[in-house]
Amino acid sequence: MDRGDSERHGAPEEYRTDRSGPPGAALVVRSLSPTEAATRLDELVALVLRSKASWGYDAAFMSRFAATSVTRELVGAHRVCLVALLGERPVGLAVADDEGSRAWLEDLWVDPPSFGCGVGRALFDAILDVARSWGREVLELESDPHAEGFYLAMGARRTGTRPSSLAPDRPLPLLRYDLEVARQPPG
Ligand SMILES: CC(C)(COP(=O)(O)OP(=O)(O)OC[C@H]1O[C@@H](n2cnc3c(N)ncnc32)[C@H](O)[C@@H]1OP(=O)(O)O)[C@@H](O)C(=O)NCCC(=O)NCCS
Repeated sequence: MDRGDSERHGAPEEYRTDRSGPPGAALVVRSLSPTEAATRLDELVALVLRSKASWGYDAAFMSRFAATSVTRELVGAHRVCLVALLGERPVGLAVADDEGSRAWLEDLWVDPPSFGCGVGRALFDAILDVARSWGREVLELESDPHAEGFYLAMGARRTGTRPSSLAPDRPLPLLRYDLEVARQPPG
């Protein structure tokens, strides 16, 4: 997700769940209030920038990315912001909106040292819980091209592409997760 131009509003909801994460460590995913996000903003923006940079984008791209709305995304423009914590340490973030006909996953970030430990899955599963609590049947998102495999592994499917505002030659996959179908038992 490279950040769209639209701004969405909504109150954050209370959410907390214990999830499996790295072996031997308790991973908690909970909602982050706009006030807490504002208090911890530098730490959280640094996590987002480390996460995005992990794909090897050059300095010019990262500077365009950093100049967009990272801060606004984290401090309350969205319906729910979830943080994944190992102890007191944030290791991931996810931001989503209820758009009425669908839930929209705006962002999902894992701190690179915690890649491959289930933090992304824990955040995605938590967002699915929230989207179901809103009564939505689909969750949609625009993916960083490098992250598409993650969302496909989570059960999403590609529905199209959209040009990136940050790099026109880098189309962004549009993905959909069907909450109702995914909830049915196998067989
Ligand atoms: C994409 C991202 C969220 C994955 O987080 P993660 O914590 O490493 O993922 P998990 O450990 O929970 O992996 C869950 C599954 O997805 C798979 N997976 C993870 N990243 C993948 C990728 N880039 N491509 C394909 N599969 C991937 C894992 O192999 C794992 O599969 P398994 O359960 O069958 O073993 C993380 O790499 C990230 O934050 N990247 C940078 C920021 C970014 O691009 N975010 C997405 C913006 S749209």
